[in-house]
Amino acid sequence: MPSRPSPDTHRAKVVALVQRKGGSGKSTLAVNLAAVSGQNNPPENEGDPCPVAAAGIDSQGSLEDWSARVPGDRLPFDYVVTKGRIGEIPDLVQDPAVKRVFVDTPGFMETDPNAPMDADPLGTGPAAKAMEEVLEHTDLALVPLTPDWLTHRPAEFTIERVLKPRGVKFLVVINMWDSGNDREKDGVRPELHKLREWCRERGYPFAAQAIRRYKIHAKAPEYGLTVIQYPESGTALRAREDFYKLALTVEQNL
Ligand SMILES: Nc1ncnc2c1ncn2[C@@H]1O[C@H](COP(=O)(O)OP(=O)(O)O)[C@@H](O)[C@H]1O
Ligand SMILES: [Mg+2]
Repeated sequence: MPSRPSPDTHRAKVVALVQRKGGSGKSTLAVNLAAVSGQNNPPENEGDPCPVAAAGIDSQGSLEDWSARVPGDRLPFDYVVTKGRIGEIPDLVQDPAVKRVFVDTPGFMETDPNAPMDADPLGTGPAAKAMEEVLEHTDLALVPLTPDWLTHRPAEFTIERVLKPRGVKFLVVINMWDSGNDREKDGVRPELHKLREWCRERGYPFAAQAIRRYKIHAKAPEYGLTVIQYPESGTALRAREDFYKLALTVEQNL
């Protein structure tokens, strides 16, 4: 019979969404991955806490605002309001009821542009401390990359200056892929190909499944929905397929 992990040996796995550029999909990916993971890891008994937690250290509170709009009985994960407080993530990781923690992080644009290349770009200050704490506990960082060229350099910066120096394992996730307009030429989707080549040239591992761009994703926070609750349609199925496959890749990398 499987026994519950004891508090001394137990350690929940932490997946953090990290990318310097805002608007690349960190919050969208954090909430929907937590939803899929929560659906796959329901509480053992009714009334037990969810084994999947989501936390946002973003002072904008996107993850909390969104999660709060989803009716409680439909939300397959617990979310934790950290407001950037130190100590919340280590507590979650030690909590014997928690198996997975998905962390949404803010962009960290307020870095000193004149700092030397070998300086730590997180700097000091409360936001930096919260970020530091998350990175210390991160088992896998996901770095969203979109067809918007302006996300490319920040992704590289995030990987080279923040993740690699700390030895944090990472995967690039291609998000907002416009599959409908990315017409196949000689069996290749040019836009997707370009993004994958960008990763290959730099030796960055990337998730095979790109997350497609669908309007419903942008409406979901307002409607209080996560990808597992989208009203049935072809789009909803494809949107879910993207996240199910990505969730599987994430699990394989933990
Ligand atoms: N795959 C997608 N398809 C459509 N819209 C998306 C997708 N991913 C993100 N968005 C939208 O793009 C905007 C930025 O995404 P968000 O997750 O808030 O980024 P970040 O947290 O990195 O700032 C939001 O309005 C979000 O709904
Ligand atoms: Mg966000």
